[in-house]
Amino acid sequence: MHESVLLTESINYLNLNDKSIIVDCTLGYGGHSSHILKQIPNGYLYAFDQDKEAIKEAEKKLKAVRDNYEIINTNFVNLKEEITKRVDKVDGILFDLGVSSPQLDEAERGFSFHKDGLLDMRMNQDQELSAYDVVNTYSLEELTKIFKVYGEEKYASSIAKGIVKTRENNPIKTTLELAEIIKENVPEKYRRQGHPARKVFQAIRIEVNDELNVFEKTLKDALDLINVGGRICVITFHSLEDRICKHVFNEVSSIPKELQNLPIIPDEYKPKFKVIANIKPKAEEIEKNNRSRSARLRVIERS
Ligand SMILES: C[S@@+](CC[C@H](N)C(=O)[O-])C[C@H]1O[C@@H](n2cnc3c(N)ncnc32)[C@H](O)[C@@H]1O
Repeated sequence: MHESVLLTESINYLNLNDKSIIVDCTLGYGGHSSHILKQIPNGYLYAFDQDKEAIKEAEKKLKAVRDNYEIINTNFVNLKEEITKRVDKVDGILFDLGVSSPQLDEAERGFSFHKDGLLDMRMNQDQELSAYDVVNTYSLEELTKIFKVYGEEKYASSIAKGIVKTRENNPIKTTLELAEIIKENVPEKYRRQGHPARKVFQAIRIEVNDELNVFEKTLKDALDLINVGGRICVITFHSLEDRICKHVFNEVSSIPKELQNLPIIPDEYKPKFKVIANIKPKAEEIEKNNRSRSARLRVIERS
């Protein structure tokens, strides 16, 4: 079961009316999408996901509401191309980033450091590059860089060395094998501060799915697709995603520094967007759903 994070808040911020045209970039198990669909009886929903398993489940949920939707089974990096084939502009776009609970919980998807499965971590099951390839073929330098940049892992270098040494004998095949190597290559006291494999697993997942580059490009494309008065809602789960969102939103919602002291700002330099919200889940939600503890919702509106 996937419990949607910041559900009420993100749906409210989308400012739906019965005719809204909405894009959900991360359909997942249809939690957000089914709520959106209920509120747009005369509108339309386009929902993206690259995970066929998720789509199968979500489809059942959406069908039970009504049929004014289309599921687009592709990476959301294709958002602009796919949407402009269908409509010029939309009234709202939602991103609920990362992986869903079923993706994390099913050992065979290879995302979990708690459950043993083959190293995989592909959101799109048709993609070639998997976690196995990253762990067994990337150089020491590449691994160190990924762990540092995408995992902000303090012990990036010693973990990468441990991986390279182990795979000299045999390839590293499973999630628990990798988790054990990580554990062995960090100091004893670090092992007690949360699971020592968390950051490295996050880093490999980001690399396998090219998550940060894809998100940044798509968020910029999303800005071009929004109608006046329309909103983009983004739910992120770690600081790297959030930083990208903050930066992109700041850039389009502020007056360029060199013009800030002018008494009158020429129309062409006035920001096209305004930031509407930047919130975290309430304590009650975090208590009920631990996955929401690191979530943040940012909302921007086209002026
Ligand atoms: C956190 S879940 C979304 C859950 C959903 N909002 C719900 O309430 O059920 C994220 C989903 O986005 C999908 N996803 C992540 N990155 C994607 C991308 N670049 N393109 C398409 N789908 C993506 C994942 O496969 C996953 O199903």
